[in-house]
Amino acid sequence: MDPCNLDQLVSTTERTLTDAEKEKLEKDTNLVSSFKQNKLQVEAQKNWDLFYKRNSTNFFKDRHGSPRVPELVSASSRILEVGCGCGNTVFPLMEENGRPFYMACDFSPRAVEFVKKNPNYNEKKCKAFQCDITKDDLLENVEEQSVDIVSLFFVMSAIIPKQMDEVIKNVSKVVKPGGLIIFRDYGLYDHAMIRFAPGHKLDEHLYVRQDGTRSYFFSCDETKELFESNGFEIEQNTYVFKRTVNVKEEKNVPRVFVQGKYRKKI
Ligand SMILES: C[S@@+](CC[C@H](N)C(=O)[O-])C[C@H]1O[C@@H](n2cnc3c(N)ncnc32)[C@H](O)[C@@H]1O
Repeated sequence: MDPCNLDQLVSTTERTLTDAEKEKLEKDTNLVSSFKQNKLQVEAQKNWDLFYKRNSTNFFKDRHGSPRVPELVSASSRILEVGCGCGNTVFPLMEENGRPFYMACDFSPRAVEFVKKNPNYNEKKCKAFQCDITKDDLLENVEEQSVDIVSLFFVMSAIIPKQMDEVIKNVSKVVKPGGLIIFRDYGLYDHAMIRFAPGHKLDEHLYVRQDGTRSYFFSCDETKELFESNGFEIEQNTYVFKRTVNVKEEKNVPRVFVQGKYRKKI
């Protein structure tokens, strides 16, 4: 997910498409049938669990980039990572900052098992649990208004747009007033969006991968609206543009992410 970085640019303006990219997106008008879309929704958890069965802990790289998020490194009480996968963020972060108590949850029981089996998993320092963030079951494991920082890294893109508001409402319940949500996810016109072949489009900016997992591509306007309408103040809400080397395609490609920091109003 974080291949060789060539450069990085932060901007509030969306990426300008080339003519060829514009044409490709404009031609891709056929949406996947509603029957198949319903099936994908019903099987969302199964598809993520199969993803971890196939890829084990090898797909996502450890994210040692927490220095880019100084709040995570300096925090001292409770951090919750939603959609933690196999723990590629939480374990490096625990190494960098051993002070907080870490909670980490994911949809996929298999991913949660990987976290619990990690040699660095220590129940005195962290708690991993299975949870569907679209349902109101976070409170079964996390006390209301108890968390200082929630990280949402590449998990909101796996949620369909009509459920996103509910997800932020659920997350908000466990955040302390004045607490922070740190967000990083796929941005509009990311290379991963442009390269979807016809037959994968579910809706505007929403696509399905070969393995049945889904991916949404955010505009900064959408994330701003999503968090503001749920009682958060915007501290950062920007695109991050990078060019990264795609080894398979033998070229460097434009990556777009949205990065945000949203503070819960007191
Ligand atoms: C693209 S992966 C990102 C994993 C990790 N955050 C990272 O950045 O490496 C998306 C993760 O979100 C999880 N996920 C998808 N839908 C979810 C839901 N409704 N509730 C909780 N987790 C979910 C998936 O199981 C998967 O682990």
